Amino acid sequence: MKHHPSPETILAIESSCDETAVAILRNGKDLLASLVSSQMELHARFGGVVPELASRNHLVTAPALVEQALQQSSLDVQSVDAFAATTGPGLASALMIGVALAKGLALATGKPFLAINHMEGHLLSPFFGDSEIPPHLALVVSGGHTLLVDVRAVGDYNIVGRTLDDAAGEAFDKVAKLMGLGYPGGPLIDKTGRGGNPARYDLPRGMRASGDLDFSFSGLKTAVRYLLEKEQNISLPDLCASFQEAVVDVLVEKSFSAAKKLGHHTVALSGGVSGNTRLREKMTNACQTHGLEACFAEGWLSTDNAAMIAFAAASRPLAAASAFDRDIEPNFSKFW
Ligand code: KG4
Ligand code: ZN
Repeated sequence: MKHHPSPETILAIESSCDETAVAILRNGKDLLASLVSSQMELHARFGGVVPELASRNHLVTAPALVEQALQQSSLDVQSVDAFAATTGPGLASALMIGVALAKGLALATGKPFLAINHMEGHLLSPFFGDSEIPPHLALVVSGGHTLLVDVRAVGDYNIVGRTLDDAAGEAFDKVAKLMGLGYPGGPLIDKTGRGGNPARYDLPRGMRASGDLDFSFSGLKTAVRYLLEKEQNISLPDLCASFQEAVVDVLVEKSFSAAKKLGHHTVALSGGVSGNTRLREKMTNACQTHGLEACFAEGWLSTDNAAMIAFAAASRPLAAASAFDRDIEPNFSKFW
């Protein structure tokens, strides 16, 4: 399926959680700047993201990043053709900062403001810079969401599976906290589990045999908690590897069922958890065995960034009509 990237220079702002990010994209493929400022250290001592801290930090960081991105691209603000921002899902007070800044820049320059769905940004990121995106099965695994999506064309999405409780990334973060590893948990479990024995601890594969495409990770989290309370000499590398294996098994199996059921030959993975070493390995092997193609968002594109927001804006010129009347949408119910 061919879509027509807009020829414009788009400046996008992402502030849905604890990353402030600004990117400038030209012709849907030339990335002139992509800056990400992480507040991770600020929130790490609280073991999770504190919304008011996040928004106050965005307020200071976002305008500085806009200036820096323009400078790096040798552009003045007038030569930007459209300003985009993530309007949701995410933390309300954090989203407001990026949206208000992008709307202000658009108003001041007389250019359109584009409202972009963060999950669509992730979903399209494995195809970043491409002008053609094949129909595919998308597995979007982030800190807040776990989605299986039947992608028939850009803008034509049908959610066929989702988590009924914790998101995959949330499970990584919560289990890492239980083990005292710190925040964010995903990369720490990934690293600690390397070389660990994934068969050492027998952990539940939630909803493996449910017959549908939904997920549940809260039982797995509880099982890890009981194990930590009960066992004296826990091996953290083995526990990390075993936990990771349980999450990955279900993600890979359900992605396959979905691709098979929908007749897709391509499986595309995005979102922070798609950077997981074991998930990449297992999904690649399984795809090879079954004659499917696995596609991943590149490492720098899998966690939150503004380049994916600019690309989503460029990929959907029709949907991306100016939207000054658009409010933030903190909860995810659908793609728009
Ligand atoms: O997509 P993302 O950057 O932000 C959201 O939109 O939520 O995803 C962040 C999530 C966090 O839960 C983090 O622990 C997880 O992605 N994550 C990982 C890895 N890297 C990041 N989970 C497992 N393995 C990783 N290597
Ligand atoms: Zn995200």
